[in-house]
Amino acid sequence: MRSDDPALGGGGHEPVLAREVAEALRPFPGGVFVDATFGLGNHTAAVLDAVEGIERVVGIDRDGEILEEAGRRFVRSAVPVDLVRGNFRDLRALLGPGSEGRVGGILFDLGIGSFQIDRSERGFSYRTEGALDMRMDRSGTRSAYDVVNGYSAEELARMIRRWGEERNAGAIARAIVRARETAPIAGTRRLAEVVSSRLPAQGRIKGLARVFQAIRIEVNEEIASLEEGLSQAVDVLAPGGRIAVIAYHSIEDRVVKQRFQEWARGCVCPPHLPVCRCGRTPALHLSSRRAIRPSEEEVARNPRARSARLRAAVRIAPEGREGRGNG
Ligand SMILES: C[S@@+](CC[C@H](N)C(=O)[O-])C[C@H]1O[C@@H](n2cnc3c(N)ncnc32)[C@H](O)[C@@H]1O
Repeated sequence: MRSDDPALGGGGHEPVLAREVAEALRPFPGGVFVDATFGLGNHTAAVLDAVEGIERVVGIDRDGEILEEAGRRFVRSAVPVDLVRGNFRDLRALLGPGSEGRVGGILFDLGIGSFQIDRSERGFSYRTEGALDMRMDRSGTRSAYDVVNGYSAEELARMIRRWGEERNAGAIARAIVRARETAPIAGTRRLAEVVSSRLPAQGRIKGLARVFQAIRIEVNEEIASLEEGLSQAVDVLAPGGRIAVIAYHSIEDRVVKQRFQEWARGCVCPPHLPVCRCGRTPALHLSSRRAIRPSEEEVARNPRARSARLRAAVRIAPEGREGRGNG
């Protein structure tokens, strides 16, 4: 099956923007490298090949199934690799006490990978029949079934508009509510049919991808997790430590861009104030003003890379929490 849907993220065998990620992590100041979205560990393997000075890797993933699979690949690694199951929104707790200011580099490769997409029973893809699940962490209590069958038309419309940026959100939400009056919507195919019925023929596939993306973001609270994960990443980075984030759609890239800009700026006083009153100092130095995009060759080789945007920065301020200005 195809797994080049732009909304689905990276995670195939060739890690997306691998060379650029390695560049963003160099020179590595030493200490721990945290791969906050470990997946099958393809990025970690590439980083360990290309970046010197990493003493230990901590690989985090919400998906216990993927970590089990990935763990086997790293048993003989020269650099120790510890795998931790959890949500990166709890980064500080997952790294343990005393982790603040001690991490040399951290990578977020957002979304889900082929490992998850290719398992139709997990319900991430509108292309194959599967149960409406979409939980990255299968111990999570809320699934796509609960959202699709439990939300009101207004809630569904808001979600599809907000996380899918789909302009037919209202009509799609009403169609879902009508369809489930006969019987609950239990599978991906039926949901895809209902959604397709409210999309123009041209752009139907993109519309479907947007709606499935919206449900996945909602089920997994992806944007709140990203906000919290980034914030904690800045806390745990050592001065000179490096952060790299790959986003696959505009909603998550906007979060990364805005947070990075805020932490790079420091002072948040209104421009008309003659002197700074907030006392906040920059915590990050941005590696580049614009996001880094994959080359045409990479996209030709690996279509999943098409929508990827990498943003990277270096931790600069020793001031700690007030340095990045959000307490
Ligand atoms: C695009 S894949 C990463 C692929 C990985 N870079 C590789 O090279 O194999 C994203 C991974 O991040 C995980 N993930 C997404 N959001 C997460 C979160 N909030 N906390 C922890 N893991 C998360 C997903 O379960 C998935 O395995």
